[in-house]
Amino acid sequence: MTSSKTILRALAGETLPTPPIWMMRQAGRYLPEYKATRAQAGDFLSLCYNPDLATEVTLQPIRRYGFDAAILFADILLIPQALGADLWFVTGEGPRLSTITSQADLDKLGPVSDIHETLNPIYQTVRNLSGALPSDTTLIGFAGAPWTVATYMIAGRGTPDQAPAHKLMNEQPEVFDALMDKITEATIDYLLMQIEAGAEVVKIFDSWAGSLPGAAFQKYSLEPARRITAALKAKYPNTPIIGFPREAGDGYIGFAKATGVDCVALDNSVTPEWAVKNVQVDGCVQGNLKSSHMVTGGQALVDETRAIVKAFSGGPHIFNLGHGITPDADPDNVQRMIDAVRDV
Ligand code: CP3
Repeated sequence: MTSSKTILRALAGETLPTPPIWMMRQAGRYLPEYKATRAQAGDFLSLCYNPDLATEVTLQPIRRYGFDAAILFADILLIPQALGADLWFVTGEGPRLSTITSQADLDKLGPVSDIHETLNPIYQTVRNLSGALPSDTTLIGFAGAPWTVATYMIAGRGTPDQAPAHKLMNEQPEVFDALMDKITEATIDYLLMQIEAGAEVVKIFDSWAGSLPGAAFQKYSLEPARRITAALKAKYPNTPIIGFPREAGDGYIGFAKATGVDCVALDNSVTPEWAVKNVQVDGCVQGNLKSSHMVTGGQALVDETRAIVKAFSGGPHIFNLGHGITPDADPDNVQRMIDAVRDV
């Protein structure tokens, strides 16, 4: 039977007349209703761990725009917290964590088997959503890729060049590898629980994959994605997986085949023409409109949206941005993008 869920059809390799659409960070601060619910929760982490309110913010963009997929409202940094790292968010600056720069710091983390104590509310959000979404809307779960999560755990914050993580990789490779292994195992357990709770697709965000050169990309982006994919597919062979090795450049070539993911999400550093030839040949791709169009709008937004739809129209494609929508975006521009994709 053909699924009524267009996202699942695209992920199965079907070329659709109109690409299904969702948007990274679709539940977020550009929406007044998100800001209201976040204020009710008190702060961002309280919102993540409150299943009723997290369900509400996940549903808000579905109600407003009718996206083809909802993405679980949570964060990639909940895994470090569940492993025992301190985590807090500084308003206007971003996340802060306790740092890992030695074997002693690593030893302070708890066992992977304990993560569910912290993460149980997230599984409850997934269960809520699985019952609450319209029948044609796909539920996407997610986690950060080990390298990206490790960059935050090592530096204790976001960094422009991930230098502290590269330093640990070079100077204490055994500590770095043990941390990567621990995050990889936790991520597998976390995603399995999301699938068991009702996630129909999972996405692995490797936001900082672009800072891994050559062999390091193979070892620390591609190989963990392959390991996670193999573990999930061993138990749930029919759950599609989206990989996002952001800014991987030539690393996008062959990524789906090498890792087993069903779809590769593309950032803005590659053109659709290049991606059609080099990535979509292997299957479904997702992307890749520049997020800044959601701020600037106008005819350029419509033209660029149509150009992307047209370029990818010969193969399986899920329309999305190249990275998350920003808080200064105009909600009306999101509707203009959707109308341009659906040609209304
Ligand atoms: O996409 C979605 O709507 C689902 C929820 C989601 C969030 N973060 C909510 C969030 C997802 C999938 C993420 C992923 C995430 N989180 C990534 C990978 C994707 C990417 O953007 O590259 C990363 C690196 C993080 C870590 C993180 N979380 C940072 C660096 C920040 C601060 C920067 C910022 O945008 O404020 C966050 C906070 C965060 N995560 C917010 C949201 C809606 C904003 C928090 C708020 O309401 O103040």
